[in-house]
Amino acid sequence: MSEANAFHSRHRAAETAISVSSVWKVFGEGAARFRSRPPAERTAEALSRDHLTGAVQDASFDIGRGEVFVIMGLSGSGKSTLLRCLTRLIEPTEGHITFGGQDILKLGEKALADLRRRRMGMVFQHFALLPNRTVLGNIAFPLEMQGIDRARAEARARELVALVGLSGRETRLPTQLSGGQQQRVGIARSLATNPEFWFLDEPFSALDPLIRTDLQDEVLRLQREQSRTAVFVTHDLDEAIRLADRIAIMENGRIIQIGTPEELVTRPATDYVRRFVAKVPPARVIRVASLMRRESIASAAMSVPAEATVSEVAAQIVASAGPIAVTDKAGRTLGSLDRQTALETLAAL
Ligand SMILES: Nc1ncnc2c1ncn2[C@@H]1O[C@H](COP(=O)(O)OP(=O)(O)O)[C@@H](O)[C@H]1O
Ligand SMILES: [Mg+2]
Repeated sequence: MSEANAFHSRHRAAETAISVSSVWKVFGEGAARFRSRPPAERTAEALSRDHLTGAVQDASFDIGRGEVFVIMGLSGSGKSTLLRCLTRLIEPTEGHITFGGQDILKLGEKALADLRRRRMGMVFQHFALLPNRTVLGNIAFPLEMQGIDRARAEARARELVALVGLSGRETRLPTQLSGGQQQRVGIARSLATNPEFWFLDEPFSALDPLIRTDLQDEVLRLQREQSRTAVFVTHDLDEAIRLADRIAIMENGRIIQIGTPEELVTRPATDYVRRFVAKVPPARVIRVASLMRRESIASAAMSVPAEATVSEVAAQIVASAGPIAVTDKAGRTLGSLDRQTALETLAAL
């Protein structure tokens, strides 16, 4: 099983960390009066007739503690606006957002600044590093903003430099780093205060494909070591599938479907989703658990974990000669996997 995928033997959040309910963000003249509009005046047609942009329309979902929740959609579908509503970098026009039960839309300036500074970490597409500060200085910056003394801030920054694989480059300036290295600094900086909530808006979109994969692995590794509630925006389905516990697909300001990668591929809610996921090989997202037969087997030739995707255990399935047992995390047998069914899933395109 690859490192990245080992993460997917996952995590089902018991507790809600972030709750979003009926959130709208409307741009344009007269958006302020939107709240008093009846439902019939809130349709896409009514909004466009009035020259309003419904960047986020009636979004509702919960994110579990420790979950990686990915917001995906084409450019202009409202992903960044939705993410920014969650951090209140943009004020939603309407709706409710709670973090651990606390209504963040009711927070005053100071409490909001405090929440952002202490409990949220953010990473953006264009790294937004301070050009005249070194790697260490950039990473220590959020700690200094919290009033932590220089020596402690620097010690913590050194830990983070090592965590993101930049040891030896502590004193470089951003211009002396590659794009991938700059984004590693961005990631380290976002984690400096050890935040509960991690928000990432297309953090790897400006990077080359190989560097991108490296940094995706980095995110998965960091989540394995210290799982945070993460909201990750991307327009790249491949990235979404690698990272997500669940994916929300947006189209023109609306969330069309929310589900695990497996649910989106096997049960797309609309043609739009179907077209989006059409190129995903089913074995990459379908889990052994979904193919499993609940029956006991006398003597298994081998066993595979229920949480693994079929791709992850492909080599074992291909090599197996006898019955395959399916096991839970504790190693208990849950049922059996029919080799033929698994091979058909592997062959399906
Ligand atoms: N400040 C703004 N003023 C007016 N319209 C905006 C503003 N920000 C975003 N929009 C519009 O809202 C829609 C969603 O934008 P955005 O959230 O940036 O999409 P994405 O991140 O998915 O590319 C787009 O139509 C965009 O033009
Ligand atoms: Mg965006």
